[in-house]
Amino acid sequence: MQASEAEKPRIVILISGTGSNMVAIAEAVKAENSDNGIDAEIVGVISNRPTAEGLNKAQAMDLHTDLIDHTLYASRDEFDHALIRMIEDLKPDLVVLAGFMRILTADFTRYYEGRLLNIHPSLLPKYQGLNTHQRALDAGDDIHGVSVHFVTEELDDGPNAIQAIVPIFDVDNAQLLQQRVHEQEHIIYPIAVKWFCEGRLTMKGSKALLDNKPLPTSGVQLDSRD
Ligand code: GAR
Repeated sequence: MQASEAEKPRIVILISGTGSNMVAIAEAVKAENSDNGIDAEIVGVISNRPTAEGLNKAQAMDLHTDLIDHTLYASRDEFDHALIRMIEDLKPDLVVLAGFMRILTADFTRYYEGRLLNIHPSLLPKYQGLNTHQRALDAGDDIHGVSVHFVTEELDDGPNAIQAIVPIFDVDNAQLLQQRVHEQEHIIYPIAVKWFCEGRLTMKGSKALLDNKPLPTSGVQLDSRD
């Protein structure tokens, strides 16, 4: 039986920039009845930057958008509490960080613990923070990738749900590598959100669980080289 609109899991997506991951998730929600579709409702897309391209993309997909400009707040604490209030108005079951480039306070991450996902362009725990593609190249790595993880207090440190591995080639530069990683982001983020919305992906203590079984540190790994 199809869940009625009122019963669907409610998703809020936070963005700061292009919003391509937000679009990938929104497309999977639109395709809710297909194999890879997500049976959920995106109840809001919130940006902390007025110029975020993703806001236009969300509006073009008929999604509700909100703006909360972090530069108008005196402190990180004040901003995060205002952000919580804005998100709570939308009564979400899941909050998805999709290129939301703000360090969040412990108050925020604790409030949403277990229902807050992030995507980070590296094979976490490798390369937390910024410039991940250049750092993987500089280190001479032959693989790189992307992780979707539950968010905890430590930056880029919560348990991984899923990762995608990409190869690094001799001719690569940071831009080529970023494009290769981005393609995989658009595959794995909708998968993780779908698992969460189906009640299959949960967080217990410091572990991510899929179907009640603790996942390895990497989460489920997809290898685009296969
Ligand atoms: C993505 O590549 C995501 O992995 C990265 O921001 C980009 C947003 O792209 N996130 C982080 O670096 C978080 N630490 P998008 O706006 O097109 O989805």
